[in-house]
Amino acid sequence: MLTTLTEDGDAVLILDQTLLPREIVQRRLSTLAEAAHAIRAMQVRGAPLIGACAAYGLALALRQDAGDAALDEAIATLAATRPTAVNLNWALARLRRLLAPLASAARAEAAWREARAIAEEDAAANAAIGRHGMDLLAEIAASGRKAPVRLMTHCNAGCLATVRHGTALAPVYAAHDAGLAVHVWVSETRPRNQGLLTVWELAQAGVPHTLIADNAAGLLMMRGEVDIVVVGADRIAANGDTANKIGTYLKALAARAHGIPFYVAAPLSTIDHACPHGGDIPIEERDGRELGAAPDVPVANPAFDVTPAGLITGIVTERGIFPPEALRELA
Ligand code: MRU
Repeated sequence: MLTTLTEDGDAVLILDQTLLPREIVQRRLSTLAEAAHAIRAMQVRGAPLIGACAAYGLALALRQDAGDAALDEAIATLAATRPTAVNLNWALARLRRLLAPLASAARAEAAWREARAIAEEDAAANAAIGRHGMDLLAEIAASGRKAPVRLMTHCNAGCLATVRHGTALAPVYAAHDAGLAVHVWVSETRPRNQGLLTVWELAQAGVPHTLIADNAAGLLMMRGEVDIVVVGADRIAANGDTANKIGTYLKALAARAHGIPFYVAAPLSTIDHACPHGGDIPIEERDGRELGAAPDVPVANPAFDVTPAGLITGIVTERGIFPPEALRELA
């Protein structure tokens, strides 16, 4: 399995995802500014990994100054890095609850321990998502159609987007390890091409896959070449509406049109119970230059979209698989 974030003495090592898959470069983060930059510049990306990196970033900040003002300032700096993935706010709120009542001398050490707990819990949650999600793939395999199970995913919700195992890809890895034949359709995911990260990690794991242009998804579904769609999530509202990488919604619409089950796989840390529905989820607008147009071309570049709960068959969490309307029971 790939190591996206590891402790290295007083610092953390990350894999710079802006350079993958061309170059494999680790970066050492030893200050708040470096951690905030890594998240903002998408050197680390993917909702669960962003949450873990932010937790370590806060721990690094408190090594310099653990007073009340510094705590507030570091949390504000990290919270401002990216707006959509709620795991960021979730991790920072968890640390604030723990740290605020402590004497400042005890904060840095406690923050580091909690960041480690967040990272370890993410790995464990994703492993459980893999076990639950594998049941869906096994059911398809048992339904009598010829192997392999043909799964479509979008963006990168694999090992690289988490501390370990991935979310949408965790069931794929679990099935592959159990000897169940799976083939993954990987959409390119314009404009940042996170699909290339997915291809890279599936290749490392020896999982059969095929890269497609984003716009090929509908045709493949229409031709009956897709058994199931599984994507990750950046924020799931209390009613099950789900924000994920731009283009997810179109896949959900096409899946519904062709009677293909559409699942979201995410840890409980991605569910925002304080957000009633998808319209309240902040959508990151990124630099228009990511689209590669000439500088004078007017450009809109929303990085995420919201798939309404009604298009989602189920949400695969570490506690099991839930219909979107049942998420409130998990609050
Ligand atoms: O902009 P990114 O690359 O951070 O967006 C990532 C995604 O949209 C993932 O699908 C999502 O975070 C789930 S990751 C397990």
